[in-house]
Amino acid sequence: MDTPFSTLIRTASHEQHTEAETSSFMGDLLGGRLAVDAYARYTEQLWFVYRALEEGAETLREDPVAGPFIRPELFRTAALERDLAHLRGPGWRAGASPLPATAAYAERVAACVRAWPAGYVAHHYTRYLGDLSGGQIIRDRAERTWGFDRKGDGVRFYVFEEIPNPAAFKRAYRELLDGVDVDDLEKQRIVDECRRAFAFNTAVFRELGGEYSLSA
Ligand code: HEM
Repeated sequence: MDTPFSTLIRTASHEQHTEAETSSFMGDLLGGRLAVDAYARYTEQLWFVYRALEEGAETLREDPVAGPFIRPELFRTAALERDLAHLRGPGWRAGASPLPATAAYAERVAACVRAWPAGYVAHHYTRYLGDLSGGQIIRDRAERTWGFDRKGDGVRFYVFEEIPNPAAFKRAYRELLDGVDVDDLEKQRIVDECRRAFAFNTAVFRELGGEYSLSA
């Protein structure tokens, strides 16, 4: 394959990206039509997903394929915990529960950690590169809709304090993707897993939409 892997994976997931981006839950959230409770519930779901990603990070640090992607400056769990304490109060943990789609998503990430590090790369890419990109749009809307301090508690998940230049980071990340040392068939499997990762995100949005639907 002559196409760089970073291009392949982006192109292959383009359609799913549009689907996730235009889900009605996201549309309502970004359109300022939902109460802060919906945003908090969404943030809780992210916490379950990032715990799976970042517990896996410890395990995969030395892995030849996934290891180079493990960068502590990306870690989001601590930021999510601060946001949740702000959104839900100090007892937030007792009330946090994964939606069925979230539980399935986190379990799939954990399964990749256990048995398929290259698959973990697909999940890593789907979340972190997205957060460094469109996440900034979500942060801006959340600050304006619910009055969080700019880059403060409530939206810390979207603020990568240790990545001052996201564009440069993303360039370096794409180079890492291009250097993934697996054969073409395995690359295809990673791309398929990336589509699956997007599908999990869309499923989470669908279930959140079920909980927080606006009457038509
Ligand atoms: C309303 C929600 C969303 C908005 C507004 C949004 C917006 C964007 C934008 C503008 C980019 C382009 C960045 C660039 O070219 O450097 C991007 C990239 C990306 N987004 Fe999203 N996005 C959203 C939702 C999502 C979701 C739910 C996911 C998956 C969990 C996701 C994953 C990605 C990924 C992986 C990239 C990187 C593509 C690449 O350059 O390889 N996005 N997003």
